[in-house]
Amino acid sequence: MRVIVCKNYDEISKTAADIIASQVILKPDSVLGLATGSTPVGTYKLLAEKNKAGVIDFKDVTTFNLDEYYPISPENDQSYRYFMNDNLFNHINIDITRTHVLNGMAEDTDKECDEFEKMIEAAGGIDLQVLGIGQNGHIGFNEPDEELVAKTHLTGLTENTIQANSRFFEKIEDVPTQSLTMGIATILATRKIIILASGKNKHEAVDKLINGGITTSNPATMLKLHPDVIVICDEEAYTGK
Ligand code: F6R
Repeated sequence: MRVIVCKNYDEISKTAADIIASQVILKPDSVLGLATGSTPVGTYKLLAEKNKAGVIDFKDVTTFNLDEYYPISPENDQSYRYFMNDNLFNHINIDITRTHVLNGMAEDTDKECDEFEKMIEAAGGIDLQVLGIGQNGHIGFNEPDEELVAKTHLTGLTENTIQANSRFFEKIEDVPTQSLTMGIATILATRKIIILASGKNKHEAVDKLINGGITTSNPATMLKLHPDVIVICDEEAYTGK
């Protein structure tokens, strides 16, 4: 696992955007795995700028998002589909039919998850996966637990995550308590992973990821089983100061 310690959030965004841009330049029909949350917003902004400047072309790129709240409509401005359209897809020349976000309104969630896995496989697998990290070490919505789930599945959110995500909602009762998420094996099957972390509140999770053992109580530590992971964090997340 490589660790890149950046000065601040802007530098994280620049580093991540440069890596994603290189991926797309090297392989124009790349399959990207994407995350939502506040951390990748700056990265997506820079990617949109690079696209506008003609540095990268998203025409042949396919994307799969890590997760989606459940139940939630894609039109809801708190849905991850809305987030992705608003923060990235509406600003780049991607074919929207090549962007895949789990359906937060799916009636049969098992079928939805199974089809999602099959679509990733049919696309040839994910070349580069972008991850954020929860304060409790979650990746996607794989929350700390005694056991973790391998493939894409429906899961409950922990109190900690509901609390952390309530900043985006009017009131905490509005935060969905479940989500659909790629599983740990889905994430580990991707060819290359960058995991972004900014701010002191991520220090404990980042410290365990870099220095700790592999444990289901910090799902991000599972990434130690992957041969090509780059942690991109700022000094605050790295040092806790
Ligand atoms: C989002 C996701 C989550 C976030 C994590 C960090 O798609 O899968 O695991 O990456 O909760 O969120 P932020 O970046 O808001 O701190």
